[in-house]
Amino acid sequence: MTAPIITLTGIQPTGELHLGNYVGAVRPLAQLAADPQRETYVFVADLHALNGRPAPEQLRERVRRMLAALLACGLDREQVHLYRQSHVPAIALMTALLANVTSKGTLNRAHAYKALVAANASAGRDPDDGVNMGVFTYPVLMAADILAMGADEVPVGVDQAQHLEIAVDLAQAFARLYGSEALREPRAVLPPASAVLPGLDGRKMSKSYANTIPVFAAPQAQERLIRRVVTDSSRPEEPKDPDACTLVALLDAFAAPSVVAEVRSRYRSGGIGYGEVKALLADELRAALGPMRERYDALRDDPQLLDTTLQAGEERANARAGRILARATAAVGVA
Ligand code: TRP
Repeated sequence: MTAPIITLTGIQPTGELHLGNYVGAVRPLAQLAADPQRETYVFVADLHALNGRPAPEQLRERVRRMLAALLACGLDREQVHLYRQSHVPAIALMTALLANVTSKGTLNRAHAYKALVAANASAGRDPDDGVNMGVFTYPVLMAADILAMGADEVPVGVDQAQHLEIAVDLAQAFARLYGSEALREPRAVLPPASAVLPGLDGRKMSKSYANTIPVFAAPQAQERLIRRVVTDSSRPEEPKDPDACTLVALLDAFAAPSVVAEVRSRYRSGGIGYGEVKALLADELRAALGPMRERYDALRDDPQLLDTTLQAGEERANARAGRILARATAAVGVA
């Protein structure tokens, strides 16, 4: 038997999972995880979330909602191990080891930190105003997430590519000092451009643009949001370009190819209005998300169900990270 490919990714507990997260990250991950050659580790990055100092009750709730959402979206399978980052202490120890092979200059150049410094500079504030060490050392904790679990491949969004490069750099720096046996060098798996879903205003669907449709909102609420999708002012009888329309992009992501093909041809020939497309999209979305919504509701109604899955995932993650940490602590001379 050949060793499985270890696939790992982390997800921030950012309130509600939206369709952009689902299409861009969670659905492709669930597809990868279905491959029997893979063993997949998925965690909610609750320690990372602390740098924004969320209210404790809110954080607790968001973590549980995200876990339930991930399971409902197809990650409830045998070769997938789901856990909370905070419940795998080896990650924190790995962070302590990696801090010593991380140059401060590397973190000075990290995009998220640089953006905060730039915002402070243009507002005339101290460069590090409001920057805590959780923000500054974010890439080190992320590298520890990856290296402690011995990941081979890490599916991430394009915005995380620099963080992945830092993780690779730290693995290499560690290997130069202590040998290459202890830590495995990961590689990033970036999504195709087609995985980017537009939001209500046509820009990339993103929480920061407030243009999202939550995956598990009630169908009526989703329908109301769909009615707000921005379209141009062309009349139903006019021919239009399907590839310029947010509604078609959303249909592409959720409806059967034959349904979308017909809509596309009616766009080109003229004779379809946006109101009709919006109603169709709401129906298609309801059908596509229905079974997932049922599973999500069941998990939300029965906290035990989630706890049982988590317990198994965290046991597994701790066992794996514990073995890797033991090699790393021995390599540096503290074990
Ligand atoms: N930084 C990632 C994000 O904001 C989340 C994350 C934390 C992560 N640790 C990770 C992703 C390790 C992949 C691997 O999306």
